[in-house]
Amino acid sequence: MKLIVTWCVAVLLLAAGAAAYVEMGLESPWTFNCEGTGDDARCVKKEAEPDLPVQTLNQCKLICGSYGPLWPRPSASVTLGSGLQQFTVAKMTDLIVVPEEVGGLMRESMAIFRNHLDMYHPDYNWIEGTAPWTVPTDPSIADHNLYIQISVTEEVDRLSLSTDESYSLDIVPAPGITTVVIVAQTFFGARHGLESLSQVMNYNEENDCLQIIDSVVIDKDNPAFPYRGLAIDTSRNYIPVKDIERTLDAMSSTKLNTFHWHITDSHSFPVMINSLPKMHQYGAYSSRELYHPDEVRGLVEYGRVRGIRVMPEIDAPAHVGNGWQWGPQEGLGDLAVCVNQEPWASYCVEPPCGQLNLANENMYDVLLKVYQEITHMFQPVDLIHFGGDEVNLNCWNTTDEIVEWMQTVGDGTLSEGHYMQEWSNFQNRAFDLFTDANNGTQATGIIWTSTLTEQGGVDSFLDKDKYIIQIWSAGNDTIIKELLENEFRVIFSNYDAWYFDCGFGAWVGEGNNWCSPYIGWQKVYDNSPHEMAGSQDYYDQVIGGEAAMWSEQVDQVGLDAKLWPRGAALGERLWSNPSSSWEAAEVRMVHHRQRMVQRGVAAERLQPKWCFQNEGLCYA
Ligand SMILES: *[C@@H]1O[C@H](CO)[C@@H](O)[C@H](O)[C@H]1NC(C)=O
Ligand SMILES: *[C@@H]1O[C@H](CO)[C@@H](O)[C@H](O)[C@H]1NC(C)=O
Ligand SMILES: *[C@@H]1O[C@H](CO)[C@@H](O)[C@H](O)[C@H]1NC(C)=O
Repeated sequence: MKLIVTWCVAVLLLAAGAAAYVEMGLESPWTFNCEGTGDDARCVKKEAEPDLPVQTLNQCKLICGSYGPLWPRPSASVTLGSGLQQFTVAKMTDLIVVPEEVGGLMRESMAIFRNHLDMYHPDYNWIEGTAPWTVPTDPSIADHNLYIQISVTEEVDRLSLSTDESYSLDIVPAPGITTVVIVAQTFFGARHGLESLSQVMNYNEENDCLQIIDSVVIDKDNPAFPYRGLAIDTSRNYIPVKDIERTLDAMSSTKLNTFHWHITDSHSFPVMINSLPKMHQYGAYSSRELYHPDEVRGLVEYGRVRGIRVMPEIDAPAHVGNGWQWGPQEGLGDLAVCVNQEPWASYCVEPPCGQLNLANENMYDVLLKVYQEITHMFQPVDLIHFGGDEVNLNCWNTTDEIVEWMQTVGDGTLSEGHYMQEWSNFQNRAFDLFTDANNGTQATGIIWTSTLTEQGGVDSFLDKDKYIIQIWSAGNDTIIKELLENEFRVIFSNYDAWYFDCGFGAWVGEGNNWCSPYIGWQKVYDNSPHEMAGSQDYYDQVIGGEAAMWSEQVDQVGLDAKLWPRGAALGERLWSNPSSSWEAAEVRMVHHRQRMVQRGVAAERLQPKWCFQNEGLCYA
């Protein structure tokens, strides 16, 4: 009885809702027509002619321009039809032909896709995760079938730098049925195909249903770079799990594939290491600002289903401190030195200070335990970020224990060269400890540019076969050429284009923060790894790029607006590596931002909505 009552109420509400759309849609005096071709095509808003059918903005956006509403634009050839087919989610069926190993992943990915379609409904219910679709009165819409066929050949279920992420997407119209065919080598490619499929459709307000471009051919769309990352710091400020999940959702909508998780730093140690509970007891901001191992594993899996590798960074030997203070009371001595030391500017680059104690062998035992649990949480690990930046030699050189130890090892001096050598020895030991923790499987290390990678000595300190260097200095730094000449593989995160924390008020002192000004999406988009590499000879060594969201001035409040839609500009640069600049992408970018908002990401508005409705009229 109760069920029936609920059902009646639901039907009444839905009917009222649908009537409202019809009124809004049909009474509009405007129509939108696609004028121009290729990158110059624009939806033009005009007063509708009496008695002629109108085309809504949503309809025009689907069929206008070489890439329609696709973001990132495919790197392959694309043919989009100019007709639209309306259909309902109720008439959607699929056939999934994939190796057993990835069957579960594919089905989950399909469920996510269906959920995205529900989110296109303007009255999507975020609490229930449902949309109040009504049945269109027109049987040619209500009875139209959408049949999705997906096939995958390889059984690969973990992303690596050599995973084939390509896919082909065909949409073929026929009376009564639209057939979608997605063909990919791997699950990861098929997932991207589903993402593109969700972008060639949108909401139709006239009939409260969906509409899809009636014919599409995307032939082997393939990313330009295998590493397309976003780094998030959860130490300066803690970011809750559900906000990281939303970040992974947003990444997947733009085909970014690596979530680089800068978990720990000198400020806090927010991850629980079961065998070393004092780490988080001393180091977490509070017992609620802590990632439990199950939550970490959950995030790794959440990413995998969305085509994203979740990669840990345990920064060392600098950028440690809070969480490492309990050594003396356990009889292990000082594990870290200069922790929270003042005046900070003498011992580190930002408060609070702290560096590992190279003189203390117990420090290595603790580090191994940390690595052991990290590999269990993230397993299997094929890429590991060691951090390795911004060591302050003055910290070590003003610590008696370290100064005494320095005189007993190496050349026995307190010279800069000797400190560099001991830092490099630490790095090599850390690498071997990680390999032990990873059951003997050698992961590729990533390390930030620092004084260790400079000074004409990078090849004597680091092995190019073991490490990829992540370049965060300016995009015109001479270090880039030096690293490439030394045959290192590189990932670009040059701060002058891809640091998303730049351009806000200072947090140490007044004025603006150190890397101001704010970097607009246009600059993010135009920052080209190949251009920075300089010569084509080095393109093979350029693994990709990454934007970094250092969290001194951000937590879950405001995270989305700082990341998006700028992160999507990065996504297109790394997927398509377009030869054109941001101007050619602007209309699609503004559209993609709207789509991100529809999917629950609080991406920042880029322009007045007038520009969205009057495409191409807001250029200076
Ligand atoms: C290492 O091997 C042990 C024993 O086979 C296994 O229990 C553990 O999960 C493995 N660890 C990793 C990180 O793969
Ligand atoms: C360390 O301190 C000593 C003086 O105590 C000084 O001679 C030496 O140059 C310092 N080393 C570095 C790398 O600053
Ligand atoms: C890099 O660009 C900046 C800003 O345009 C300039 O000041 C600097 O001299 C350049 N550096 C090099 C090495 O070209």
